[in-house]
Amino acid sequence: MKTDEKKYYFMEDEKENERLASKVDPDQFVEKYLKPYLYDGISVLDVGSGPGVIGRAIGEFCSCDNIVALDIVSGRVVAAKQNMSGNTKSSATQGDAISLPFLSNSFDFVMARFLIEYVSNPELAIDEMVRVCKPGGRIFFQDLDGQILWHYPEDKELQLGLENIMNYLKLYKGFDPFAGRKLYHYAFSAGVSDIYVKAESYHFFPGKIDRKNYELWEMKFNNAMESATKILGSRNKALELKKHFLDYFSREDTLTYSVVFTVSGIKPKIFPDLALYGGDHNGTNGFEKEGTI
Ligand SMILES: C[S@@+](CC[C@H](N)C(=O)[O-])C[C@H]1O[C@@H](n2cnc3c(N)ncnc32)[C@H](O)[C@@H]1O
Repeated sequence: MKTDEKKYYFMEDEKENERLASKVDPDQFVEKYLKPYLYDGISVLDVGSGPGVIGRAIGEFCSCDNIVALDIVSGRVVAAKQNMSGNTKSSATQGDAISLPFLSNSFDFVMARFLIEYVSNPELAIDEMVRVCKPGGRIFFQDLDGQILWHYPEDKELQLGLENIMNYLKLYKGFDPFAGRKLYHYAFSAGVSDIYVKAESYHFFPGKIDRKNYELWEMKFNNAMESATKILGSRNKALELKKHFLDYFSREDTLTYSVVFTVSGIKPKIFPDLALYGGDHNGTNGFEKEGTI
């Protein structure tokens, strides 16, 4: 397998900026998850920023010294520049999470939302995020677990089609539908201390899905159509699976869910050079746990 094949963001589509921006309420996200960590004068890096709407909301929430949005797709970077243009302290740049184009110890707050599931070498990406974070600074991750895969009652044909797609994406694109549950371990292994973990339901559709979410899933399938066509062998098969999935969502007797994991912690003030010390963990392990499922 060619490495650059895994780097390719398989959701790429001209409507991906629009889909990502409409999937999150950035002000609500900042209020719910980031508020305790933000303060005036902070420097922020958002890795896998998408169209930069979260960066814009952070800049509106507090007076940052510097906000950088980084994404591997040039179209995302253009959108992020546009969305963040009202803030002179913000910028957007193209780059790969596994080799961040920044000096070590550069940012007070380094975040990645819904990125790790797409990265074929998540441990490396997390090491990089820790590297560019200042000692004493904060790392924040959020990722999904089980999206598209968990439903009841079982529809064998649908489940098989979805699992085929997921298996292919895992093997050939490095996509991990169970990244959420792994964030804690990744953060621990990267030497992050004072780790906070939270699990909540994310997709949660008992009965017929509402119109807005129906349209978002339709858009998600459309954006992944090229990949689905390759995986299933024909466009017709991809369209059939999309219809089957949306029909399932439209039933009154079905339930679909997935989980979102939030993990954050501190880069210890005295941080060993992991390359020199063989990757030993040096955190303090002051855990704060919260379970909402
Ligand atoms: C699901 S989107 C999440 C966007 C944004 N963080 C949000 O929460 O809406 C994943 C983003 O990660 C970017 N991405 C994927 N692989 C990447 C990599 N190796 N390095 C940097 N960005 C990457 C994609 O281009 C895409 O914009």
